[in-house]
Amino acid sequence: MRKKLVVGNWKMNGSLARNEALVAELRKLLRPDGVDVVVCPPFVYLSQVKALIKDAIIAVGAQSLSSAKEGAYTGEVSGSMLADLGCSWVIVGHSERRSGYGETNVVVATKVQAALDSGVRPILCVGETLEQRDAGVAEEVVGSQVDAVVSALGVEAASFVVLAYEPVWAIGTGKTATPEQAQAMHAFIRDRLVRSGVSAQGVKILYGGSVTAVNASLLFSKPDIDGALVGGASLVAEGFSAICAAA
Ligand code: G3H
Repeated sequence: MRKKLVVGNWKMNGSLARNEALVAELRKLLRPDGVDVVVCPPFVYLSQVKALIKDAIIAVGAQSLSSAKEGAYTGEVSGSMLADLGCSWVIVGHSERRSGYGETNVVVATKVQAALDSGVRPILCVGETLEQRDAGVAEEVVGSQVDAVVSALGVEAASFVVLAYEPVWAIGTGKTATPEQAQAMHAFIRDRLVRSGVSAQGVKILYGGSVTAVNASLLFSKPDIDGALVGGASLVAEGFSAICAAA
């Protein structure tokens, strides 16, 4: 019922030449029947990548945005600028933004709202650290990250948000959550949305954290895992296409 979505987060990687080669390979290899595919290059390459993609097989997203609309915000990029470039998706609240750039739940909620106001679809990242999981508070942490956005946006707007569960301990570590661990948290998130009043059966919840062509199929076989937010493996065309094929 929910079409799978696979999103490649290139993080701070790429160059004009490397992007050209990667997109050319992706255009050859991707067979996105039954799956929606998005790539998220750094801001400065959005126009280049959008132009290279040429057709609608792959959509383009950004990795963050400002919560402000426009004005004296040096170094920031607004949602309307993203929309202007034909960018239809934006990642919000990635753990690297939360831990390294002071993005609190409140800031993340305002950015999700800014994305929706600009017509750019937000992918809201949530996830616990290893210490939080070991302390038995993973659900509490993730639940409060979800609640902050739902209460700021209201239940109707919240149903347009795609969520990505990314346990911080699985990001870039090669240590993936087991399909059972991921499914359990995805089911918890969907239930939390339902309890808040969001009609969540149509809401996509992606898994992120060391997803590869090897572990993707098992993750995707779980009922509440609706796709993946892929970091490292999205920089290699064969691996990323294989993940999309598994979806
Ligand atoms: O946004 C993507 C996630 O941070 C996962 O990154 O696939 O390199 O672990 P990773």
